[in-house]
Amino acid sequence: MNEIRVTLPQPSVSYPIKIQKGLLEHVGKEVSEMTTSRRVAVITDKNVDLHYGDQVKRKLTDEGFVVSMIVLEPGEQTKTFSVMSTVYSQLIEAGLTRSDVIVALGGGVVGDIAGFAAASYLRGVSFVQIPTSLLAQVDSSVGGKVGVDLPEGKNLVGAFYHPDKVLIDPLVLDTLTDHYFADGMAEVIKYGCIQDSSFFMKLAELKTRQAVMTEIESIVSRCCEIKRKLVQQDEKDKGMRMLLNFGHTLGHAIEAFYHYESITHGHAVAIGMATLTEISERQGLTEAGTTKELRRVLKTHQLPAELADLTDYDAILPYVKNDKKQLKNKLHVVLLEKMGNAVIHQTDGDFFESLTLGGQKP
Ligand SMILES: NC(=O)c1ccc[n+]([C@@H]2O[C@H](COP(=O)([O-])OP(=O)(O)OC[C@H]3O[C@@H](n4cnc5c(N)ncnc54)[C@H](O)[C@@H]3O)[C@@H](O)[C@H]2O)c1
Ligand SMILES: [Zn+2]
Repeated sequence: MNEIRVTLPQPSVSYPIKIQKGLLEHVGKEVSEMTTSRRVAVITDKNVDLHYGDQVKRKLTDEGFVVSMIVLEPGEQTKTFSVMSTVYSQLIEAGLTRSDVIVALGGGVVGDIAGFAAASYLRGVSFVQIPTSLLAQVDSSVGGKVGVDLPEGKNLVGAFYHPDKVLIDPLVLDTLTDHYFADGMAEVIKYGCIQDSSFFMKLAELKTRQAVMTEIESIVSRCCEIKRKLVQQDEKDKGMRMLLNFGHTLGHAIEAFYHYESITHGHAVAIGMATLTEISERQGLTEAGTTKELRRVLKTHQLPAELADLTDYDAILPYVKNDKKQLKNKLHVVLLEKMGNAVIHQTDGDFFESLTLGGQKP
């Protein structure tokens, strides 16, 4: 088993991220270790419930827990206040008290909403993250950001609230669709880009999903390790943690433009990383050849490097300028000086202006 410990000074937080194939079989014992309570609510979605709900419930019941399953509709539209209120009601109905535990079993949507429920229900209860999508295993389950969307935009309400444990079983990725596997790979590739060129080179050599799965424990561990380091340096996202936003300013704009429907997060981030790197390479801010290398690795992992219709960039630009991280027309973009080495570059909304020329070509 690989174990990574996240430690934050104020308020004092310390919890393990455990990564092991087959860990789901031990979920009963793992939850049992962290509490004397014997009541738990498992929040999941219908897809994940179908594959793993019974197993998780059985393992917890075997340890003497009374288990309530709260099963949500899959998809981003679940991350809303109206769903939150139904979750609170079900937690009350389940008789969950402050000393009991919430288990988040699912992708980033479940992790974010269940984490926010854990942060706010009875002013906070213990919770365990069991991320089941690749994106959730390498990204959203680590770092303590939880929350929901508003009609005005994504992730606009939330909290920093850390789990007591993160349990990662990479075997559950076997039931993920190819689309969502690729989606998570975009974040995996991002870690190589921003912090670790040899990790990036390794990803270049793993040509298929099967090949990635042979190395999956070490891949997920490396990503969690990089995220842990950046979160520990900058929990509240005011400095180094911003490096994790590589490709995201443009990625978020693309997601918003397509109403969070036709392009999912990882695919939008892939386009964002490649497009931004092309712009910064053209401006001499990024080592020559980096864009080509990045595009090749994205393609290997079934990810796009550009929009299907380049003329859409015209309409996407206003969304970039609306980014919540942009203050007084100052824009902080994360770019690569070279592969494995990201920096925060202060610029303005015009940085992306060349996109209006109909895509990446000058
Ligand atoms: N909190 C953070 O720091 C953070 C970071 C990144 C992203 N996020 C959030 O994460 C969300 C995206 O996460 P996501 O991509 O995991 O989306 P998701 O939770 O919608 O999961 C993607 C799809 O895969 C299905 N699924 C999940 N695990 C499965 C499995 N093992 N087998 C079969 N199907 C499975 C889900 O039912 C869903 O249909 C967004 O809401 C985003 O804002 C949060
Ligand atoms: Zn992301």
